Amino acid sequence: MQHSQQQKSITLAMTGASGAPYGLALLKKLLEADYKVFFLVSSAARVVLATEHNLKLPSGPDAIKAALVEHLGCDDSKLIVCGKEDWFSPVASGSAAPKQMIVCPCSAGSLASIAHGISDNLIERAADVVLKERGQLILVVRETPFSTLHLENMLKLSKMGATIMPAAPGFYHQPQSIDDLVNFMVARVLDHIGVNQDLVQPWGYDRRQ
Ligand SMILES: Cc1cc2nc3c(=O)[nH]c(=O)nc-3n(C[C@H](O)[C@H](O)[C@H](O)COP(=O)(O)O)c2cc1C
Repeated sequence: MQHSQQQKSITLAMTGASGAPYGLALLKKLLEADYKVFFLVSSAARVVLATEHNLKLPSGPDAIKAALVEHLGCDDSKLIVCGKEDWFSPVASGSAAPKQMIVCPCSAGSLASIAHGISDNLIERAADVVLKERGQLILVVRETPFSTLHLENMLKLSKMGATIMPAAPGFYHQPQSIDDLVNFMVARVLDHIGVNQDLVQPWGYDRRQ
């Protein structure tokens, strides 16, 4: 795979924490930014999507892709949906996996599995690959309160180079809607992976023009 192709590809996983709108909005923005997106969704995330977003994903990668494209109104040419045991997916091997991966939202369960290298499904394996390859792994963890175990798992992963970005939107941009809160988190994640975004202005810019 050419290096330039690698730079514009990313793995996005949605797991079963509350905050499905963050993951969907991120997927849309990454596709709009011309990223090739390897998209993974856990079984629990599908339950959360149906509960929070009234989005009932069908089973099977092709059907999931079709449903997402219709829901988001996005181009399908750069979206690759991977099954949870698709061990032949590029994301399962350091020789082919994108160097960047985002888990958004990230459940406490997936956090624990990733922290301990369980690699029992493709989401966990893909995260393990990014860690071993010293890539960029971002976990948008959502739980409250955090137990000592959650905090230890986050510390462990942070020490390994992962970025822990709890789903904790700020309010200093004076959100008027849920979309404004969602966009706050999406903007911060995009900032971290180096994608230009105009969802939320950088700190201080709106007061200094
Ligand atoms: C509607 C709903 C909301 C949930 N919210 C959270 C949450 O915010 N954080 C969390 O860690 N788990 C949450 N859970 C529980 C996880 O989905 C559950 O622990 C699951 O096993 C995680 O599996 P996964 O990491 O493979 O997606 C929620 C479950 C449901 C059905």
